[in-house]
Amino acid sequence: MKALVTGAAGQLGTDVVTILLSNGHDVLACGRKELDFTDLAQCQQVIGQFQPDVVIHCAAYTAVDAAETDIDGAYKVNAVGTRNIAVAAESNGSKLIYISTDYVFDGTSNESYQEYDNTNPQSIYGKSKRAGEVLVQSLSTRYFIVRTSWVYGAHGNNFVKTMLRLGQEKPSLKVVHDQKGSPTYTVDLTNFLLELMVTEKYGVYHASNSGACTWYEFTQAIFEEARKLGISIIAEPEPCSTDEFPRPAHRPANSVMEHLSIRTNGFQDIRPWREGLIDFLQQWTGTESK
Ligand SMILES: NC(=O)c1ccc[n+]([C@@H]2O[C@H](COP(=O)([O-])OP(=O)(O)OC[C@H]3O[C@@H](n4cnc5c(N)ncnc54)[C@H](OP(=O)(O)O)[C@@H]3O)[C@@H](O)[C@H]2O)c1
Repeated sequence: MKALVTGAAGQLGTDVVTILLSNGHDVLACGRKELDFTDLAQCQQVIGQFQPDVVIHCAAYTAVDAAETDIDGAYKVNAVGTRNIAVAAESNGSKLIYISTDYVFDGTSNESYQEYDNTNPQSIYGKSKRAGEVLVQSLSTRYFIVRTSWVYGAHGNNFVKTMLRLGQEKPSLKVVHDQKGSPTYTVDLTNFLLELMVTEKYGVYHASNSGACTWYEFTQAIFEEARKLGISIIAEPEPCSTDEFPRPAHRPANSVMEHLSIRTNGFQDIRPWREGLIDFLQQWTGTESK
């Protein structure tokens, strides 16, 4: 297929481009230089020229805390920019995959969230990503909205890399134990996107690695698996509460998402988060030591 990828230099987009290419797809990788999607005319020109079968919209304003004071900036990218991509993809007849987030939920439920549960974002980032979803749903006839969570991979900064660094530097580390979610390895998410994009099974999907943990439990797992690979982790994680680490943007206490659409559409569920983590650490330490 011909696939146009936005955010091609980002954490997820980099792996999407690499894996699409290694699976023989024809890819136009768009970083900011190739396509500033806040410009509608540019979207129409770039998408109209390449004529992709699918647009995979990975780019976003992802600075969750900065968004609280840069409201226009967040909406310009996540809402207006997504609208531009949706309009251009639709007039070209392209399918559209919009990557969205667990932050569209308020996190107060005791149950895991299903795809068609009511949303109630509490942060500007979550609200602006939800606005992007609404625009995609109203402007595109062939869309997949794929909500994911707690993303990490080889490219860019993320929680796993931060913990690996801090774990080697500090003897003890306080980590939040009252927020739970599903860590997601970019490679596992990308493999799901590749399966999805060749279908016409449009709709909303929750796509994280399966299972759930708190940030504290995730850190414990990172340290355990890193030690097995010979990384000298000196830190022991200590559980703490969200209140001990006040941040500008609200974080959902429960961001665990049910994979109802994956099951009901006959896709295989994404593997457990710990298996993804082990694979990532093996790849990462292999790359690092080269
Ligand atoms: N990271 C997570 O934990 C997480 C969780 C749930 C959902 N998601 C969603 O997953 C997707 C991928 O996230 P990620 O972690 O890969 O994010 P990322 O590493 O921050 O990448 C986002 C990319 O978007 C680009 N971008 C932003 N504004 C742009 C514009 N106007 N024109 C062109 N490019 C622009 C950024 O370019 P610059 O670097 O030049 O700004 C960056 O390369 C996003 O939709 C995000 O909302 C992420």
